[in-house]
Amino acid sequence: MKLSNRIVRLNGEPGQSDGWAVYYRAREMKLAGEAVTMLSIGEHDRRTAPFIIDRMAESARGGNTGYALMIGQESLRDTIAERVERMTGVKTKRDNVIVTSGGQAALFSSVCITSDPGDNVLIVDPYYTTYPSTVRAAGGVVKKVQARAENAFQLGKDDLAAAAPGAKALLVNTPHNPTGAVYTRETLEGVAEVCKAEDLWLISDEVYDSQVHEGAHLSPRAIPGMEERTLVVGSMSKSHVMTGFRLGWVIGPAEVMKVAGDLLNGTTYGAPGFIQDAAETALKEGDQEEGAVAALYRRRRDKAVAALEGSPALKISPPDGAMYVMLNIRPTGMSGEDFALALLEQEKIACMPGESFGDAAAGHLRVALTIDDDEMVDALRRLRNFAEARL
Ligand SMILES: Cc1ncc(COP(=O)(O)O)c(C=O)c1O
Repeated sequence: MKLSNRIVRLNGEPGQSDGWAVYYRAREMKLAGEAVTMLSIGEHDRRTAPFIIDRMAESARGGNTGYALMIGQESLRDTIAERVERMTGVKTKRDNVIVTSGGQAALFSSVCITSDPGDNVLIVDPYYTTYPSTVRAAGGVVKKVQARAENAFQLGKDDLAAAAPGAKALLVNTPHNPTGAVYTRETLEGVAEVCKAEDLWLISDEVYDSQVHEGAHLSPRAIPGMEERTLVVGSMSKSHVMTGFRLGWVIGPAEVMKVAGDLLNGTTYGAPGFIQDAAETALKEGDQEEGAVAALYRRRRDKAVAALEGSPALKISPPDGAMYVMLNIRPTGMSGEDFALALLEQEKIACMPGESFGDAAAGHLRVALTIDDDEMVDALRRLRNFAEARL
């Protein structure tokens, strides 16, 4: 039987490289018993705090194991609304929130809410790896706009304005995975200006909002005139080390969120009640944990910068947020993919080549700060020597 074009072309044209070759090779080597240092994916090495797990178990034992309210339990939506209002200054109520199965389902929902099949949806290159397939899964057509390395991966207003005509929605991410860029007010005001001029929906992925090392997180929803055209994607995954709980949300205008709930009816049918209870407790009692997670990545980011700066073979721009650092390895003359594959074979260190995140990050490597400090510093010293040997 013939499969749909949507599924066959989900990851681009059939046969096209998906940029994950290094990751798959590293997993293969690990399975074969080799000791590989994994600096590749955004999974915490820290475990979920026991008080969150206790609350989940207590809730499930107490009976919250049936179908939960599809758009999210009222008390959790109130708690998320309070958090968003506190962090962004924008008045937010329960009716502005739907709960989703992780930030990923929030992204998919947001694209479905704002565009029809065949519509152009703009994403910023470099991008979080799921963005293209998320847009395609929703039937949209991916259109890329580059954020340039020489502009510290801030999205330029002129680049955006040139790409925007005819698009329905723009997806941005700040703090940014993979580059660690935190969009400045100037960048976001440029984004707002183009969205208004071109009548674009803005989908703002803010799942790293509490991991800001320099400057401050600004939500574009807080820019005058943007609230009615912005959907914000949030998640418990990064802030509270709850990746496996699959709990996220979309924030938007109340009348939009009302119909957004209908989408959950046809997709996930809502997030489990005991997970929602755990998330509510994490948000209410987890400030210390959230601060500790942010401090951990800030500390490792500082150590990574200290281990790599001053090298003639690679350039590191200290990331302002999130849990990664991007290294520009263009002085070696190698592509990110060739460098990462050779590094894996020779040094048994796995990093993501910049090419996995789009063309704008070619000649870069993304290092995830998700292993023990000493092991990370040792791996980065070996990476540095490896790069310098290639000059
Ligand atoms: C930028 C960005 N957005 C969204 C997600 C999805 O997070 P989750 O579905 O675990 O909430 C991730 C995960 O790595 C991410 O890096």
